[in-house]
Amino acid sequence: MAQQHQSSGAVLDRRTLANDHRRLAGLLRPGLSVLDIGCGTGGITRGIAEAVQPGGAVLGLDRDAGHIARASARFAGQAGLSFACGDVLTLDAEARFDVVTAARTLQWVPRLDEALARMARAAKPGGTIVVLDYSHERLRWQPEPPASMTRFYAAFLAWRAGLGMENSLADTLAERFAAHGLADVRVTNQDEAARRGDPGFEAALEIWLHVIDACGPAMIAAGALSELERDEARRDYPGWCRASAEEQRMVLRAVEGTRPRRASA
Ligand SMILES: C[S@@+](CC[C@H](N)C(=O)[O-])C[C@H]1O[C@@H](n2cnc3c(N)ncnc32)[C@H](O)[C@@H]1O
Repeated sequence: MAQQHQSSGAVLDRRTLANDHRRLAGLLRPGLSVLDIGCGTGGITRGIAEAVQPGGAVLGLDRDAGHIARASARFAGQAGLSFACGDVLTLDAEARFDVVTAARTLQWVPRLDEALARMARAAKPGGTIVVLDYSHERLRWQPEPPASMTRFYAAFLAWRAGLGMENSLADTLAERFAAHGLADVRVTNQDEAARRGDPGFEAALEIWLHVIDACGPAMIAAGALSELERDEARRDYPGWCRASAEEQRMVLRAVEGTRPRRASA
């Protein structure tokens, strides 16, 4: 499928392993080889490289050539860190990595089970697959946002579903992992909750402005949203964030599983 939008570099640049992929941080140790799929501009990947030193390495992979160029420029020369352009749906690695991860990436991928099968194959027998992702169906704002934003969000979910993207991804991952033969499946709650007064509250809410700007054109082209609806949401949401918003909670889960050492009979 053609790329429908570009994730905001400004948002991705702020991400770190310690803050934004905490369950993975707890699984890493020196010497491991890691594949980070959908690495964006590399903030989390850089943290992975540090965590697996000495002796380990991470490859950050992303289908967006602009993000890969930026990641390579930001972190040139760091030990154990490299980046490459590539799509998870054409990933063709076999038993190469101790850990294969994808953070906030599979939310944008149709044909999820093909992606998961390729990720599982890329892990060594005994290796770990860790997916961190959202259930957009369960996003909660307090109080209710303006009607224009509620309309935009409903159109966003419908547009995504029409393209084959899973809006309840976090809630379906454990079952999918088991169906792919992964063992010891474990789910960790990593919800992103921001309350007024918290550091980063405005930045957390602003993510939806980036979504309006990044996905709006494709949604309009697909007939999922009118220009007027996009413009009304773009106009009303910032004022609500400044004056009324109290809390935003995004449902986020880290799901991990192990590639069995032997195929079961
Ligand atoms: C929301 S960003 C997440 C970046 C980073 N992992 C993080 O958690 O901050 C999603 C990334 O996945 C990438 N992506 C989307 N679909 C992809 C695919 N099919 N194969 C590889 N990367 C993909 C996008 O280009 C984008 O950089």
